[in-house]
Amino acid sequence: MAETDLIETFRAAGQGQVFEYFSELSATEQKDLLTEAQEIDLGEVSRLKRELIDAAGEGGLDLEGLAPAPYESRPEHGGDAEAWAEALQLGEAALRAGRVALFTVAGGQGTRLGFNGPKGTFPVTPVRSATLFQVFAEKIAAAGKRYGKALPWLMTSHQNHEATVAFFEKHACWGLDTERVRFFRQGRMPALDGDGKIMLSAKGTIAMSPDGHGGSLRALARSGSLDWLESQGVDTISYFQVDNPLVRCVDPTFIGWHLRRDSEMSSKMVPKAYAGEKVGHFCQQDGRAVVVEYSDLPAAMQEETDAAGNLRFIAGSIAIHILDRDFVRRLAEGGADFALPFHLAHKKIPTLDASGAPVNPTEPNGIKLEMFVFDALPFARNPVTIETPRQDDFSPVKNAEGVDSPDSCRADLLRQYARWANANGAGLEVDASGLPVVKFEVAPSFGYDEASFADQWRQSATPISIVDQTILA
Ligand code: UD1
Repeated sequence: MAETDLIETFRAAGQGQVFEYFSELSATEQKDLLTEAQEIDLGEVSRLKRELIDAAGEGGLDLEGLAPAPYESRPEHGGDAEAWAEALQLGEAALRAGRVALFTVAGGQGTRLGFNGPKGTFPVTPVRSATLFQVFAEKIAAAGKRYGKALPWLMTSHQNHEATVAFFEKHACWGLDTERVRFFRQGRMPALDGDGKIMLSAKGTIAMSPDGHGGSLRALARSGSLDWLESQGVDTISYFQVDNPLVRCVDPTFIGWHLRRDSEMSSKMVPKAYAGEKVGHFCQQDGRAVVVEYSDLPAAMQEETDAAGNLRFIAGSIAIHILDRDFVRRLAEGGADFALPFHLAHKKIPTLDASGAPVNPTEPNGIKLEMFVFDALPFARNPVTIETPRQDDFSPVKNAEGVDSPDSCRADLLRQYARWANANGAGLEVDASGLPVVKFEVAPSFGYDEASFADQWRQSATPISIVDQTILA
């Protein structure tokens, strides 16, 4: 679109303020602003203003008929052992056939952790200080070796795109085939003020931010990544977040449950640790699977218990899913009736005041718009949720200190290594919480889950002794 046409379109849509300072900008700044403006779908913005801002207060989450979702319990908790064993076989066969790819969402801004740089470059392991990206890369490489088929790996990012790609290049993808690692940018959305006006962060810059991990699904299609997967015979996508190094990202049993049920989207749950744990809740409503965020489920419901005294809404989401490739394609192409909704978050957005001077607000002054990947669940055929042991799948790094911090995550990694080693007779001393007295590390090349660890341990020619700072690799 020609420059003047674009500016006119914004004016006609009541968004002329975006170009208020246009005449003050240098030629390069003008060009950059026009490029940013072109990213914006004005029709979508005006629909969201109507539905989310003008209608505020009318809606809120509809809790009518909301009930806990069913899930497949693990065999040790009464689940069907035969079905779990069959799922393992099916998942292993899919991995050997090369049907599976990994997908990491790494496009968030990591504000809570206060770390400067892509979150995946955060050093997380207790001895080697391996970064989150390295841990995932090593798990993926080891699983590829185990099943005799390299696993493609997709990653979405945004602001941090160049830094992410450069980091992988610097480390030569930790030995993974670079042809099988693919990065793509997710989309962005402009921040809006209380009147639905697009905000500027500077005279020549629109306040844009990533469109949420849900946006990565349409970006998978737009970036040609789904075609890329199809060309490699991949139809099953294993999805996880960049903040969780414990994740069993290549989990044959989970893949097998997904295939066994002919599901389009599957999920893992952990029983919530306590009523107010900040996770999403697997629920169902009108016969459809839904995830309700902790911030949306009233405290009274979060605390509700059943006759046995267990939490009624017990199934916590740890943001690990399997997605069917063609389901993602349908969602991306599906039009308004088959699209993820946007959620609105009130945020402090650096902007300009009426005189054009920069303002750093101390209170929320605008809204960001995000889509969530779990909102795809209600659209999916045969969604299945399985229970997973928290200690082997979930310990995220979200906050600088305390709960879900680097310290708590390192301790959980150590507990995991000690459990695996002691299950094979290492005889390590551990405290009441399972934390070993010695600090050591198991690199994923030695064992990336309980089974691969046990195999490697057994195959070792000499007995392994673990002392402080030992690295099993
Ligand atoms: C998220 C889930 C929550 C779940 C919890 C488990 C949401 C809204 N909630 O909470 O249900 O129980 O994880 O840990 O997601 N990301 C992008 N692009 C974006 C925004 C985020 O790729 O535009 C990625 C981040 O890099 C991160 C992940 O999504 O890997 C999670 O985002 P975050 O905002 O940290 O979610 P939580 O509030 O922790």
